[in-house]
Amino acid sequence: MIVGSLPEDIKNERRVAITPDVIKKYISLGLEVYLSKNYGVHLGISDKQYEEEGARITENENVLIKSNVILQMNIPNDEILNKLKKNQILIGILNPYSNEKKLSDLVSKNINCFSLELLPRITRAQSMDILSSQANLAGYKAVIDAFAFFQKAIPMMMTAAGTISAAKVLVVGAGVAGLQAIATAKRMGAIVFATDVRIASKEQVESLGGKFLTVEGAENLETEGGYAKEATEDFKKKQEDLLKETLKKIDIVVCTALIPGKKAPIIIKKDMIDVMPNGSIIYDLAASQGGNSELTKADEIIENNGVKIMGEANILNKLPVSASNLYAKNMFNFIDNLFDKEKKSFKINVEDEIIQKTMVK
Ligand code: NAI
Repeated sequence: MIVGSLPEDIKNERRVAITPDVIKKYISLGLEVYLSKNYGVHLGISDKQYEEEGARITENENVLIKSNVILQMNIPNDEILNKLKKNQILIGILNPYSNEKKLSDLVSKNINCFSLELLPRITRAQSMDILSSQANLAGYKAVIDAFAFFQKAIPMMMTAAGTISAAKVLVVGAGVAGLQAIATAKRMGAIVFATDVRIASKEQVESLGGKFLTVEGAENLETEGGYAKEATEDFKKKQEDLLKETLKKIDIVVCTALIPGKKAPIIIKKDMIDVMPNGSIIYDLAASQGGNSELTKADEIIENNGVKIMGEANILNKLPVSASNLYAKNMFNFIDNLFDKEKKSFKINVEDEIIQKTMVK
């Protein structure tokens, strides 16, 4: 049985699904690994490095024909999809909401597709959880990027020449990315505030040394799966008033608030941006889903009244080596669960919640 991976479209995606350190793990499961020539060269990983770990480097066409399972970051282009054959398995972040037609065509040809962003948030799936591994890095990098852009120092400094006050950071959305943003900003000496619609996140924010902005009288907007529900009009109004007051003293806002399968909620309105101090920054990680600020534009820096709004659509391209390393391990753990070690074949056991929930039907 062979697992293979083809190059991504490097202009849009710098991460890869297979890194050298997982090759031996696949081999010890009893699988062969096929990769296209120059697969990781843009990350500084040579073909030789992959070969030394035991991978076979070959032509794209060969990877495509020989692999029982194709492991990718994103859904491949139509040319590749059209060449996939019955009983092959395709695994990646396939974005089933946007790629409905392409995926239903594949399923009708008996090609099994698994989309890893559909993984259930259960304990057994934690080692495969690509949303967490990638969001954690995104939260970290957002803070590093925003701080590098900010024209002032971050920590408080008492010097003979005078005192520099600590930068004040607001993190909007305290999920996986938000919590890492809080931890990173705290480590660098910022004063950190955070807001979320899930009451459970208050304790997590406080355990990292952040100040949680509680929307008075708000109900807990959390689903059974642990995700956020869309906020009610009453909540939005109260959150707006609280944020407008807080934003007057905030230097950097890091936005991470998302609702699965929906457009990102607009939380920072233009009138709130208008009251922010000159030179402050809004770094919007929700940009690819429309953004949490009213003025966000994906991959652009907008200036409003001395405030810069940075919309980051794929921040993971800015640390693709770390992101690939974690993704490749998540992917291996998924394969480990899908592969029947006794029969040495892939078994699609729909009784398994992980397999059932990730499988595109
Ligand atoms: P996400 O990426 O879907 O959303 C980010 C954050 O934005 C969430 O905390 C959400 O509550 C918040 N948010 C949404 N609308 C908002 C609004 N209007 N105002 C303020 N905040 C808003 O969430 P993520 O990071 O994927 O985490 C979702 C949940 O899953 C969390 O409870 C997390 O702890 C849980 N989780 C569980 C795991 C497990 O294996 N048990 C693994 C990873 C996460």
